[in-house]
Amino acid sequence: MRIDFLTVLPEMFESPLGCSILKRAQNKGLVEFAVHNLRDYTTNKHRKVDDYPFGGEAGMVMQIEPIDRCISALKAERDYDEVIFTSPDGEMFNQPMANQMSMLGNIIILCGHYKGIDYRIREHFITKEVSIGDYVLTGGEIPAIIIADAIVRLIPGAIGDEQSALSDSFQDNLLAPPVYTRPAEYKGWRVPDILLSGHEAKIAQWRYDQALERTRRLRPDLLD
Ligand code: ADE
Repeated sequence: MRIDFLTVLPEMFESPLGCSILKRAQNKGLVEFAVHNLRDYTTNKHRKVDDYPFGGEAGMVMQIEPIDRCISALKAERDYDEVIFTSPDGEMFNQPMANQMSMLGNIIILCGHYKGIDYRIREHFITKEVSIGDYVLTGGEIPAIIIADAIVRLIPGAIGDEQSALSDSFQDNLLAPPVYTRPAEYKGWRVPDILLSGHEAKIAQWRYDQALERTRRLRPDLLD
């Protein structure tokens, strides 16, 4: 898989893509990331990529030309399955969407900024608009990194124990059950006896019951 990020803040990607699972997945050759500074694609001598909105609203709007030039240069090199735009008015990102995206080959993620982007970009280049929640962030970079993290960890081999991605919260519309590690007792607080019993079937039943109970209590909407 390859993910191309289009941004005016390329430095925001350095640490998240350079640590932990995302770094390991790149080193293992499972994913390739490329971060493109939209200012490198403008013909403006001051490297400006935004301008005032027609009709006189407040705020600046990202211009079509640098984005067109960047996307066209990328598409000349390879085919893309999706051109995603991060925006609070997009489709809500969730685990099923992450699962589906993890099976794609090449994707572009355009990070929105300022007041918005020239609407012609959304009409002519974008194939999918994604929101990470009903709140407004200052830009689409953090949403783009969140989307990349959620999908790359699902690529087989990205996380050590493949079973653990399947048992994540949300994978079966249930929150994950509690987990514990040594010591079995700390300051008098004991790990549930069942987990120390060695009865695999009973432990699996306990985990399922706990997942169901936590989902009913914390996220009943997932059971609808
Ligand atoms: N850009 C600003 N806010 C956002 C959000 N909630 N989701 C995706 N992109 C955004």
